[in-house]
Amino acid sequence: MPLCKISPALWFVLVSLIQNVNGQTTDSIPSLREVFRNKFLIGASVSPINIHSEEGTVLKKHFNSLTAENVMKMGVIHPEPNRYAWSGPDSIASFARNHGMKLRGHTLVWHKQTPNWLFRASDGSKVSKETLLQRLREHIFAVAGRYRGQIYAWDVLNEAISDDPGTFYTRTPFMEICGEEFIEKIFRWAHEADPEALLFYNDYRETDPVKRKKIIEMVTRLRDKGVPIHGIGLQGHWNIHSLRIDELEACLKDFAATGLILHITELDLSVWPGEPDRREMRPEDSINAYTMANASKQDALYGKIFATFLKYAQAIQAVTFWNITDRHSWLDEWPVRGRKDHPLLFDADLQPKFAFWKVVEQAEYHK
Ligand code: G3I
Repeated sequence: MPLCKISPALWFVLVSLIQNVNGQTTDSIPSLREVFRNKFLIGASVSPINIHSEEGTVLKKHFNSLTAENVMKMGVIHPEPNRYAWSGPDSIASFARNHGMKLRGHTLVWHKQTPNWLFRASDGSKVSKETLLQRLREHIFAVAGRYRGQIYAWDVLNEAISDDPGTFYTRTPFMEICGEEFIEKIFRWAHEADPEALLFYNDYRETDPVKRKKIIEMVTRLRDKGVPIHGIGLQGHWNIHSLRIDELEACLKDFAATGLILHITELDLSVWPGEPDRREMRPEDSINAYTMANASKQDALYGKIFATFLKYAQAIQAVTFWNITDRHSWLDEWPVRGRKDHPLLFDADLQPKFAFWKVVEQAEYHK
């Protein structure tokens, strides 16, 4: 076999063997962000703590974009009417700046992790539409204004479209109090607050054709009205048991046809079956789901996911993982608190998994 035909994964095994023989410790692991340099940005969601933990070394080597996992969400950054908690998000912004990384903003308006005060008048009654819109406007100007020029893309609105095929929008306090016109307004305000930032609608389960059709209808209506919206975010919280690559491909094809920029915003691939609701731990949850069989399913699927992303690389600008390594994932807490998951490309010892090599291999094939 000519040398150039050897896959990156095989290269790694060979190089490791040679190193073991020679007792060398040279770092032969390629940087993910360099591997994808000409295709898309490689991001990770982070907290102010883990950027400075050991996981931060993985971050600095492999990633060139950050998203705050929680600290820019309304309930965390704006916990009381006149108080903003800037220190956490500021520390992430300065880490990004110091290490030459891009920064995505997540998220200006989401019906989850919202502070209770937002929907309440001073007498405790439900707030009026005018007041809620005014509060949203102030929030957006304060937050997008503070990070103006630092955040290159904002998730302006998160998860507004319903999972129920017969319902267009999810019932949320924003929708109940303001009606759908709030959507147009928040995009316009975000654009005023930071005219350079790309503005995204971000959602999950977009591989479902019915939900996807609604999303396309919503963004098309917004664009027809001249609302500044530049992209669609595909979260990508998938699992090895149900993700179908043909469905992913159909999704990317439809979204790419809108002409909007696509960001994969929250990528992970759980080794557990997907569940919609939080529940208590059961005895079967204590088994290790990261078996050889599941691991190899995950490796292969990660390869196929990236092969599909690369097919649509013209439309996809960034791929962000939701967390950095399997040492810590939000899926360790969800849907079963304390149940370990292994959804990322680096293991709990911060080492690249075979899935990593499968992904690297795809980049080699699409050079
Ligand atoms: O910070 C508190 C801590 O003080 C407290 O002791 C602890 C007790 O449970 O909770 C901590 O807050 C948790 C927070 O994460 C920080 O770890 C919240 O309970 C928990 O609900 C919250 O979960 C976050 C979730 O959004 C909230 O809905 C996850 O970390 C975060 O990964 C997840 O991210 C979302 C995206 O923003 C939008 N798309 C879906 C994605 C996954 O749900």
